[in-house]
Amino acid sequence: MKHLIAEFELMRRRYPPGSESSLVLPCLHRIQQDRGFVADSDIAELTDYIGVPRIQIEEVLSHYTQFRRAPIGQWHLQACRNLSCSMRGAEGVIGHLSRKLGIAPGQTTADGRFTLSTVECLGSCGTAPVVMLNEAYHENMSPARLDALIEGLPK
Ligand code: FES
Repeated sequence: MKHLIAEFELMRRRYPPGSESSLVLPCLHRIQQDRGFVADSDIAELTDYIGVPRIQIEEVLSHYTQFRRAPIGQWHLQACRNLSCSMRGAEGVIGHLSRKLGIAPGQTTADGRFTLSTVECLGSCGTAPVVMLNEAYHENMSPARLDALIEGLPK
């Protein structure tokens, strides 16, 4: 994380003195973008750097499902399981992905290619059910559309 301190200092200038806790979210996003996940060592270093209690960083990490605490596969499928998506077939989408990839939500395929996660509302309820593939939204998903999406990925 230390190589990101210069960037964090630029972020810090955006906030008035005494608002250091506002740095937690943007710093965690940048760490995850850099490493792919937030390691225990990152939490310790961020605690020292920002000067907030470690529990404050742990709370943010456990609240927001987009933060990862361990490495994931090359392709990260995040299937929404919240109300609108559930009413429009999310369980079928998640089940289809599990069967197709041979993994349960929270797992990564043995070849490291895919990680499957279930998440709460992705903010696209009008086009449910929704699946994110890395940073891209895929809406109105169905088993057939999932098959086309996965089979169209580069090997
Ligand atoms: S409930 Fe799935 S996007 Fe909102």
